[in-house]
Amino acid sequence: MFGCEAMTESLIDEDIRVAQTLPSRFYTEVHEFERLKSVFSGWQFAAHQSELQAHTIQPLEHIEAINGESMALIRSEETQCFSNVCTHRGMRLALEACTKNILQCRYHGRTFNLDGTLRHMPEFEQAIGFPSDTDNLNQFPLKQWMGMYFAAQEAVPDLPWAMLEERLGFLTPESFNHDAGRDRDHTVDANWLLYVDNYLEGFHIPYVHPELNQALDYSGYVTETFDGGVLQIGKAVKGDVKFDLPPGHPDEGQDIAAYYLWLFPNMMFNFYPWGLSVNVVIPVSHKQCRVLYRGYVSDAEMANQGAGSVLDTVEHQDQWVIEEVQKGMASRAYDRGRYSPTREQGVHHFHRMLSQQFN
Ligand code: FES
Ligand SMILES: [Fe+2]
Repeated sequence: MFGCEAMTESLIDEDIRVAQTLPSRFYTEVHEFERLKSVFSGWQFAAHQSELQAHTIQPLEHIEAINGESMALIRSEETQCFSNVCTHRGMRLALEACTKNILQCRYHGRTFNLDGTLRHMPEFEQAIGFPSDTDNLNQFPLKQWMGMYFAAQEAVPDLPWAMLEERLGFLTPESFNHDAGRDRDHTVDANWLLYVDNYLEGFHIPYVHPELNQALDYSGYVTETFDGGVLQIGKAVKGDVKFDLPPGHPDEGQDIAAYYLWLFPNMMFNFYPWGLSVNVVIPVSHKQCRVLYRGYVSDAEMANQGAGSVLDTVEHQDQWVIEEVQKGMASRAYDRGRYSPTREQGVHHFHRMLSQQFN
């Protein structure tokens, strides 16, 4: 029946040649927006290691905005991820990044060591059975991959880190440095799904991004899907900046301008010859999202050339188009479309992953 299909795997046909796209209610209804929030409890990008060097305690406010969990990266001998909520009566602990050696709650003065254990609590001498393990900070899973930290709310399956490293490891992103001048925080009047859908295809590049289209060889654009994400490969036009691929690399011999890696559900890692631009999408409401940009640079001189040099222009063009799509999704005349079998494999893969979450 029109508009009433359940969100199950069968909603998005496995065969892209016959499949219909996600029904419009997933983009417009509060109820569907709330239901989809459960997809954000897995791995989330926390920080690049170059952002951690200056601080011992770093609250992860963007992850809190994404999934409601207040977490902090805490560095002592090693970097770990702990709950940023006081075990007394629930005050948020670190409100900004700092270099302290003790974490003190601003409500009633409870203190914690950098290994998450309770250190001291005033006025609790007469409390019986105190402290216990539950007075220490809860620890969350933390994964370090090529210099980037990912945190999760619970133990979740690993992503194919090794496969991705084989492709991208030659860039040594662990050696990149955070460049705060590249940070952006955009509010977009569109459902977060639209931001991801749009990211997952290069189909729109000739129509929406004339400047980028000059730097990319559209005919050579490649989309590869895998469990947990999508890798898109942008080929450079002749004479434009490209990666220096090492011998034996899986893409050896090709002129590659950019690797666009998306990890489910909301993380984008754009590798260019100058470094890495990370976009994290924060769901705000059924009709609004925020997109955080973080820039990590290896070669600042290269940043003004090629596919990675027009990022702000491209971003505004993408925001413009998805805000228009958001309005279109409200139409009673539109419910579902079809996928291009040659250009929209990434979008199809994303919608399949969503539908599989609710089996
Ligand atoms: S809530 Fe932290 S000490 Fe009371
Ligand atoms: Fe785009």
